[in-house]
Amino acid sequence: MENFVWHNPTKVLFGKDTVPELIKLMKADNIKNVLVLYGGKAIFKNGAYAQVIKALSENKINFTEIGGVKPNPRIDKVREAVSRIKMQAESSPNEKFDAIIPIGGGSVFDSSKAIAAGALYHGDVWDFFDGKAKVESALPIYGVLTVSATSSEVNGIAVVTNPDKEAKTSMSSDLVYPRAAAIDPSFQITLPNKQTVNGGVDIISHVLERVLDGDEGAYIMDDQGYALIRNMMRIIPDLLEEPRNYDLRAEYAWIASIAHSGFLSCGREGRGDFASHKLGHSLSLLFDVPHGASLSVMTPAWARYLYEDNPVPFARLAENVFDIFDGSDEDKAIDAIEALEDFFSSIGAPTTLRELDIDEGEIERIAENASKGGAFGKLSKLEPEDVLEIYKLAY
Ligand code: NZQ
Ligand code: ZN
Repeated sequence: MENFVWHNPTKVLFGKDTVPELIKLMKADNIKNVLVLYGGKAIFKNGAYAQVIKALSENKINFTEIGGVKPNPRIDKVREAVSRIKMQAESSPNEKFDAIIPIGGGSVFDSSKAIAAGALYHGDVWDFFDGKAKVESALPIYGVLTVSATSSEVNGIAVVTNPDKEAKTSMSSDLVYPRAAAIDPSFQITLPNKQTVNGGVDIISHVLERVLDGDEGAYIMDDQGYALIRNMMRIIPDLLEEPRNYDLRAEYAWIASIAHSGFLSCGREGRGDFASHKLGHSLSLLFDVPHGASLSVMTPAWARYLYEDNPVPFARLAENVFDIFDGSDEDKAIDAIEALEDFFSSIGAPTTLRELDIDEGEIERIAENASKGGAFGKLSKLEPEDVLEIYKLAY
């Protein structure tokens, strides 16, 4: 086990009717003026918006709304909200915003983190994403989660797209962990099966990025990870049959929060592999592919490219998740990769670029985009020529 620091500062309020508790917490923290941030219509249908507004009014907390955050969120929307907060601070210093409430999923939470940091920074908020600036202060975030997938509700990571720079990239800081998050799974019974699948693949991928990173020594964390994947493989098909089942939604939600909270990185050398995520981000950037779909395509291709030189982590996955015990490590590894792919297909997740309607002629452009920042990955450092081969395998 490597040395590590474990400090997750987010207070989680999990379960039914936790939104009023969240707003009471804001009141106790002396919050007076908040920016409520959301995406499209979903939060009006699932009841989250109504609960937040009611509780804010009851607690006499002023609010202003900004909607329209898109999935795969864009930097323009972040800039719009940052200017709004800065303007208010200048024109009405007594009513300046002192907190943000994201209501939604990863896209809204991620945007709120960039906004929280950008609002207290003198330069352009994209500076945090291209490494020109470090976050030194941020407004507190009190989040209401309506889609579980990314763990954004309990981590300090924000992923945002900047089309002008042809980049979908992340910033991270201890200062943008939400101060508190209400995770009420009842909001999620309205989720369409497509999102249950996309989110489910993302959750499984957050575990795979750790257990397949080649780390030797954090076995107790790997075992936690295998258990999470096994449970996701039970829960996702059941939820597709019974989307309104509260208990399944609750199990799914809590696994989602654990998977990328940082907990599974404890004791590892580095936080995980994350090459599949990087390969996927270029698909989301260039073709607006949903995050989960980008991962169900790129993870198996990445695995097929690497397993022969690195069979051990895949063989351990075979034994611990898929009950595959026969043959050499290499045999078990390829069987596990096939089993993973079969599982993705069985829940309706795409496993090839072809299924995403991406033209074969685009592969070089995608590979170039992914390799722009140099080699990446932990199990194996992927040079541009490796990256190109992986996209070809994904076709
Ligand atoms: O557009 P609206 O109407 O708001 O609908 C949303 C959105 O279209 C809908 N939705 C939300 N709650 C709902 C609902 N539909 C029905 N019922 C409800 N209760 O869900 C759609 C997708 O939302 P989004 O926030 O985009 O989904 P997700 O949570 O999967 O977030 C994906 C984003 O997070 C990033 C991804 O790259 C992607 O941009 N990630 C963030 C990470 C982090 N912060 O740590 C790590 C991840 O690996 C990931 O990269
Ligand atoms: Zn992810």
